[in-house]
Amino acid sequence: MKITIIGTGYVGLVTGTCFAEGGHEVTCVDSDVNKIKVLQQGGMPIYEPGLPELVKKNVAAGRLFFTSNTQEGVERSDFIFIAVSTPPQPDGSLDLSFVEKVSRDIASAMTSYKIILDKSTVPVRTGEKVAETIGRFSKGKVDFDVVSNPEFLREGSAIEDFMKPDRVVVGVSSPRPVEALKALYAPFDAPVIVTSIESAELIKHAANSFLALKISYINAVSVLCEATGANVQEVAHGMGMDPRIGRKFLDASLGFGGSCFPKDLSAFIATSEMLGYEFGLLKEVQKINLGQMDRFVKKITDTLWVVRDKTIGVLGLAFKQDTDDVRNSPAIDLCKRLQRAGARLRVHDPQAMEKAGAILKDVDYVADMNEVAEGCDALVIATEWPEFKKLDLDRARRCLSHPIIFDGRNLFDPVEMERLGFLYKGIGR
Ligand code: UDX
Repeated sequence: MKITIIGTGYVGLVTGTCFAEGGHEVTCVDSDVNKIKVLQQGGMPIYEPGLPELVKKNVAAGRLFFTSNTQEGVERSDFIFIAVSTPPQPDGSLDLSFVEKVSRDIASAMTSYKIILDKSTVPVRTGEKVAETIGRFSKGKVDFDVVSNPEFLREGSAIEDFMKPDRVVVGVSSPRPVEALKALYAPFDAPVIVTSIESAELIKHAANSFLALKISYINAVSVLCEATGANVQEVAHGMGMDPRIGRKFLDASLGFGGSCFPKDLSAFIATSEMLGYEFGLLKEVQKINLGQMDRFVKKITDTLWVVRDKTIGVLGLAFKQDTDDVRNSPAIDLCKRLQRAGARLRVHDPQAMEKAGAILKDVDYVADMNEVAEGCDALVIATEWPEFKKLDLDRARRCLSHPIIFDGRNLFDPVEMERLGFLYKGIGR
């Protein structure tokens, strides 16, 4: 089948590449000429495990193309995906101007029946607007269907999430495109759930907000654990054994971040408000998340007493493991707070140092994680990279002026760390 993806960011590029891997012929379009040039020359604009190999393979097989020409992309395919960004506005609602522009561009380029699928995360009722806009700008001369097809890709495991999804959601306004949509996703072994467009749009925001809620819930429980001597990991394990709850997304931390959860929560709250419902529960989720970072910073400042002119080593800058993404990263937020308190920082991240360099200035970027502790007064773990578990702890203890570790991701066992001679402070344990 012939597919065009408009918008070649994280979502667009992974989606296009995986469809090509599934045997379809895919054209990825982006208005950023430089990005397209990089991709055409075999380069990669983002870090995502497994993606460079898959892009290379499918380009070589003649199933994956890159262009900055929307017209060409639309003419070539029967399925047109909208995968452009929907940046947040100051009030939390989403700026849909790229979605609107692409809808107009598709409308002017269409010369035959198209199925237009929205992959961008949008508020409920956007599909209706997209259909209205395409109808208006194509002047009724060509037939089309608009479908809401939200993505559930986690950065770092996006390829696996696409190739083996838990579910594929397609929101439609008529049965006409359903068989074609099932065929489109046939190479991927997953249940296809057919809903209304509005339900599909809501599923995306409701699912991500629920996951954020789960994290805030366990983070709130972690506060009680600290107050009582309980261990949040034991509590999460005991709770998670109940299949109605499940153990996933119950890892207490210094807070969630990334390009999705904070933005999706704010957008869902803003949409609810527009629809006349105050979603107080989700406002509390945001509040707990901010409080978690406040408490972690306080733990550091209380222990060090005076932070000014102390040197702190920070392991992790990405918003989570297996990505170079630093957007809304709790680790970066933490670094900035420590800098504001007067600390000097030595930092390391296995992948995100280049991207962090653009937003985090006046710090020492250290290439080897085992050298970070040199000359430091304390070490902080801010991202859950599994390699940090292999830190040379003997060396760290010898390097630190006093062996203190603040672990915002609970990577180490507190009993073992104490035995090794560290003052070790995790979350909720
Ligand atoms: C998320 C959703 O998981 C995905 O389905 C959606 O489509 C996009 O948003 P992503 O933002 O890539 O994916 O990361 P995710 O793995 O969900 O983690 C989000 C944040 O929560 C990270 O900062 C992570 O460190 C934090 N987190 C996650 C916790 O603090 N505790 C947990 O138990 C899980």
